[in-house]
Amino acid sequence: MTQIDQLRRHGLFDAKVPRYTSYPPANHFAADAGGLHQREWIRAVPEGSEVSLYIHIPFCKRLCWFCACRTQGTKTLRPVDIYVNVLLQEMAQVAQLLPRDVRIARLHLGGGTPTILSPRTMTRLLAGVFNSFERAEGFEFSVEIDPTEAAPELLQTLADNGMNRASIGVQDFDPKVQDAIGRAQTYAQTFDCIRILRAAKVHSLNMDLLYGLPHQTSASLVDTLEQVLALQPDRLALYGYAHVPWMSKRQVMIDGTALPSAEARFALTELAQKMLCLDGFTPIGIDHFARPGDSLALAARNGGLRRNFQGYTDDRAEVLIGLGASAISQFPQGYVQNQSATAAYSTAIGQGQLAGARGHVLSDADRLTARMIEQLMCGFAIDAEALAVEFPDQRATVAGAVAALVAAYPDACRSDGTGVQIADGFAPLVRVMAGHLDRYRTGQVAHSSAI
Ligand SMILES: C[S@@+](CC[C@H](N)C(=O)[O-])C[C@H]1O[C@@H](n2cnc3c(N)ncnc32)[C@H](O)[C@@H]1O
Ligand code: SF4
Repeated sequence: MTQIDQLRRHGLFDAKVPRYTSYPPANHFAADAGGLHQREWIRAVPEGSEVSLYIHIPFCKRLCWFCACRTQGTKTLRPVDIYVNVLLQEMAQVAQLLPRDVRIARLHLGGGTPTILSPRTMTRLLAGVFNSFERAEGFEFSVEIDPTEAAPELLQTLADNGMNRASIGVQDFDPKVQDAIGRAQTYAQTFDCIRILRAAKVHSLNMDLLYGLPHQTSASLVDTLEQVLALQPDRLALYGYAHVPWMSKRQVMIDGTALPSAEARFALTELAQKMLCLDGFTPIGIDHFARPGDSLALAARNGGLRRNFQGYTDDRAEVLIGLGASAISQFPQGYVQNQSATAAYSTAIGQGQLAGARGHVLSDADRLTARMIEQLMCGFAIDAEALAVEFPDQRATVAGAVAALVAAYPDACRSDGTGVQIADGFAPLVRVMAGHLDRYRTGQVAHSSAI
């Protein structure tokens, strides 16, 4: 049987599974964990520890049809400026609750389009951050950048305020694909944005690409990748396009008949993987690539790779505080997501409350499963010995999970008594295998394709 037949037999081309950027996935968050937990968990952050901060800017001047991010269109900057005022209020509330000497290790601005802010508003926002929170040594500051909505002065403002990592949205350079996903972006715009960033000494550049887009072919993807490689990014994220029009209404604009089949998606990702590895990139987890000297590649080599809501990271902080509408905070005790609608979020903050609306309190069993799934997603293996250090009382549960995986995927797993590794050629099954350990899966929620 060929490898592709084996993957098909294990359901790779039919499976719909979460991307496991958290466990349980955010669709299992419920209203019984919210603002009260958020307050209690922020207060419980250990004195003198380091936390990470995520700030969500849910505004864009254009709304690309493919996009599944929580964002809203705006023609003017007025609602954005008002929103930044609310963010500053939320920041002050959080800073007041945090114990003494808590410093921020990382700051990430995501969206939506953070680069929609005027330089003045961005300066105001960042002054608020740095006045409210002390920066830790080795502080890293990253921003998601849409090259079509990133004025040179704004990029300079970000660099002047210490941005040292930029994540640039590309998706695909083929005009036919761009037409089909409602996102126009020329190579020249992207090139200019990168030139400005490098001139401003922002040296770590990531680019986001998508496979599985309408009209994308092997030839068009190779063209896009060649153009991307000419721009010499340090990291790449190559996400599988998640077509979920029932969740992301704007995707109804996308012609479903022009989407590649699951098997064609698999061929596209295999092709991209080969091309990027030939160019010297190290593959990281399911969808990232980094130059061997990049900190993400180093983390992957030394076991320090983690998975959180932003995908793969080498961030070691145990606490991620999300600010803004729909932002998710992650604590050792559980997750809390802020009100998703901007109006509801702003009302809660305006009333002096935190905006947490839903979430999940982690049980011990959840924590163990979360860690096993994270190990699989980061290293395609479960390391039972490492888990025994973290969860000494749960050796039997780990052994049970390993045995269950081996029983379900005998040809795709290798087990030598210290855990389980996914066998060569079967890595694409990792989300399907993670799904096998997921105790919350009901089959009722439709996720995106496993490939
Ligand atoms: C907040 S968005 C982009 C940031 C910026 N606004 C831009 O357009 O360049 C972050 C990334 O999410 C990814 N993304 C958005 N919608 C997606 C989908 N339906 N499936 C997979 N990835 C998606 C894209 O790669 C995108 O660059
Ligand atoms: S891809 Fe970026 S610019 Fe386009 S809608 Fe999504 S967040 Fe906005």
